[in-house]
Amino acid sequence: MVQDPDNQDVLKAEHLFCERDNRILFEDLNFAAHRGQVIQIKGSNGSGKTTLLRILCGLNEGFRGSLTWFNKPIQDHWEEVHSSLIYMGHRVGVNKILTPVENLRWSVGLSTSVTDEQINEALGDMGLRGFEDSQCFTLSAGQQQRVSIARAIAGSPKLILADEPTGALDSKTGLEIMKILNDLNAKGITIVLVTHEDDIAKYGSRIIKMKDGKILEDKKNVNN
Ligand SMILES: Nc1ncnc2c1ncn2[C@@H]1O[C@H](COP(=O)(O)OP(=O)(O)OP(=O)(O)O)[C@@H](O)[C@H]1O
Ligand SMILES: [Mg+2]
Repeated sequence: MVQDPDNQDVLKAEHLFCERDNRILFEDLNFAAHRGQVIQIKGSNGSGKTTLLRILCGLNEGFRGSLTWFNKPIQDHWEEVHSSLIYMGHRVGVNKILTPVENLRWSVGLSTSVTDEQINEALGDMGLRGFEDSQCFTLSAGQQQRVSIARAIAGSPKLILADEPTGALDSKTGLEIMKILNDLNAKGITIVLVTHEDDIAKYGSRIIKMKDGKILEDKKNVNN
């Protein structure tokens, strides 16, 4: 069982090297998500944000360097990582033919055992009471994103990596989703968030700026 002392690195990447189509994308990239933080990663198109997130969660294996999970080599602990780390991609990751309950049962059940009670609680927390058994294509984009967050939290994650989670939403719904992520952080979940939008700049304790595969800036969020 992993201990959670304060100021611990949840996930740390050191000396990442990554090539794409014979072009070096990262050469010596270092990144650490400290426990309890909300970290925003910003940067122009093609700067490497998605690639970094995918490497951090094990979806992209074409890299060199070291990854540690609570200071332990990640490659020896993938099972533990997969039950505690959630990746939310660009698109809302729900199956639209299925209902919210089915989405949660289907995906959460793959990595960890979650009870019907936990599923209902997660959907209730996301304001989806009354929609549990509606097929997801009948829900709004914001409600679908809430289903995907409910799916994330039903398994009690320690870390959420979210790649433009508000990208497909109007600004009001996007801010609601940001508030939900902020509330999850208040409950102790560390969040790494890729974003383009300026109106969510106030969220997060740290802002990292990437350019051409490099971290240009890593500083405290003064807007918070
Ligand atoms: N599978 C791949 N094969 C080849 N090149 C790739 C692959 N994935 C990404 N790249 C290249 O790596 C670079 C970084 O891409 P990445 O998607 O990480 O950028 P990004 O910062 O997320 O951009 P955006 O803001 O548009 O989402 C780009 O030049 C892209 O073309
Ligand atoms: Mg991207």
